[in-house]
Amino acid sequence: MKDVNQNKLNSENIHSFLNIDKNLKVNLEIFDQIDSTNSYLLNKKQAVNELNVCIAEMQTKGKGRSGKIWESPKEKNIYLSIGSVLDKEISELDGFSIFIALMICDALKDLYKIKAKIKWPNDLYLENKKFGGILIETKMVNKKLSIVIGIGLNIFMKTNEFINQEWTSLYIEKPFLEVDRNILISKIISEISNNLNYFLEKGFKAFKKDFDKRNILKNKKVLVSNFSSSDCTALDVNEDGSLNLLVDNLKQKVTSGEVSLKIQK
Ligand code: BTN
Repeated sequence: MKDVNQNKLNSENIHSFLNIDKNLKVNLEIFDQIDSTNSYLLNKKQAVNELNVCIAEMQTKGKGRSGKIWESPKEKNIYLSIGSVLDKEISELDGFSIFIALMICDALKDLYKIKAKIKWPNDLYLENKKFGGILIETKMVNKKLSIVIGIGLNIFMKTNEFINQEWTSLYIEKPFLEVDRNILISKIISEISNNLNYFLEKGFKAFKKDFDKRNILKNKKVLVSNFSSSDCTALDVNEDGSLNLLVDNLKQKVTSGEVSLKIQK
């Protein structure tokens, strides 16, 4: 990956590469530094039929799942949040984070022919290491669901002493790839925006087959928070986005909010 591609984030470039419904308003804000792009959008007033996008070159309080910190060094990666208001209940959004992960995989495949995998329910993997994560946050405003989709992708990062799990980046896995973050961000926003209504209408079941091909957990031994002293194998995912596990030879269904899960080495 050449340094010349380490372009700064640029609003005009991102807008110009967007390939979405022309009637959809996209409000794009780019910060050199912010606490968290997710927190920023959660506090912002949002409207139906609008996409609010917040991107930053660095985050000082990047949020990961389960209260963890998301390492967000300057100009190295993608820290992207997309917010909107949906006419849905949160309970109608089963499998939403997997849908978002699939959209990111599609963007990577179309732009760079990269085959990323998904660790249920919302981690992105390259060569068996995590290089991206998704944090979805919601709140009710005037009886409508305000939703923020937070996406963190390791792009140019070569070292980071603070991450305490195995990780990778696009640069580490594909050093000769030419990556402009502006183009990748545009492509991700476009994929999500062009498929969102279909997801809202049909649900995760319409995307299950695509996910099956990217399911990194299938038939792997896993350590599961709720079954810490049991022998667990991950199986497939159901049409409602829940995961089937074989726990001491008994099939059990778990949902994403219930468990945290690690692949056993
Ligand atoms: C995870 O733990 O895997 C989820 C990581 C999500 C990180 C992204 S970076 C952009 C957005 N802003 C945040 O504070 N977090 C998300």
